[in-house]
Amino acid sequence: MTPGIRPLIAGNWKMNGTARGAASLAEGVRAGLDRVAGADLLICPPFVHLHAAAAAVAWKPVAIGAQDCSALPDGAHTGDVSAAMLADAGCGYVIVGHSERRADHGEADAVVRAKAAAAIAAGLIPVVCVGETEAQRDAGEAESVVGSQLRGSLPEGFGAARGVVAYEPVWAIGTGRTPTEADIAAMHARMREEVTALLGEAGRTTRLLYGGSVKPSNAATILALPNVDGALVGGASLKAEDFLSIAAAAPAG
Ligand code: PGA
Repeated sequence: MTPGIRPLIAGNWKMNGTARGAASLAEGVRAGLDRVAGADLLICPPFVHLHAAAAAVAWKPVAIGAQDCSALPDGAHTGDVSAAMLADAGCGYVIVGHSERRADHGEADAVVRAKAAAAIAAGLIPVVCVGETEAQRDAGEAESVVGSQLRGSLPEGFGAARGVVAYEPVWAIGTGRTPTEADIAAMHARMREEVTALLGEAGRTTRLLYGGSVKPSNAATILALPNVDGALVGGASLKAEDFLSIAAAAPAG
C-alpha cells in the first residue's frame, strides 16, 4: 500500500467464459460489494462479454475494462477494436501490454505505448503491464528490464488519474509461484522511482499493481507491501468469492 492511494483490485478474465457466465460472475462481484470497503474494483471480461458484464454491474461501483485496444482510432483494421469503442461500450479502463499480448502478438514497448496513448485520448485509463521473464530474473536483470519497459511503454499524458501500472513477472502468471515479499517490495520501490522520474509528482500517486498468482491466501501479505497499490488478478478473478476475498484483504490506502 501507499498512504493516500486507494487500492485497485482488477480481474483479468482473459479468454474465458460465455456471456451468461460473464453476467453471472459480474453479478456475483456486485452482490459481494459490501465486503469491500477499502478498494476500488475493476473487472476485465473478453470484448464480446463487455456489454453483459456492464449490464450486470450497472449503477454499482465496479468498473469495467477491456484486455486490449487498437492504437488506431478507426478504419480498415479487420478484427481490431478501438479505445473509443470500448468507452462507448461502458469501459473505464483497458489493459495494454499484458505479457500474453507481448508474447502472442509480438507487441513491443512502442506498440504498448501507442495503445496506452489511444486509451488516454478516448478517456480510458490504461493499465500498462510490465514484467521480466524467469531467465531475465535469473540473470539479475529484472529491475533493469522493468525500468526499460516503463520508459518505453508509458505515453505522454500518463499519470495518477490517467494511468495504472501493473508489475507482472511473466514466470509468476498462472503458475502458482510468486516472487518473495522482499523482491516484490524492491521492484515496486524501483518502479515508484522510475514513474516519478518519468511523470514528476503524478508518479508518487500513480497506482502500481502487482499481478501473478495472487489468491486469497497471499493477498493480504502482498497488498500490505509498500508501493503495492492493488492487484491484477487472473485465475482467481474467475470466482467471485475468491476475487472478493482478495479485494477484502486490501488495506485502505
Ligand atoms: P494469474 O494471472 O493471477 O492467473 O497468475 C495474472 C494476469 O495474467 O493478469
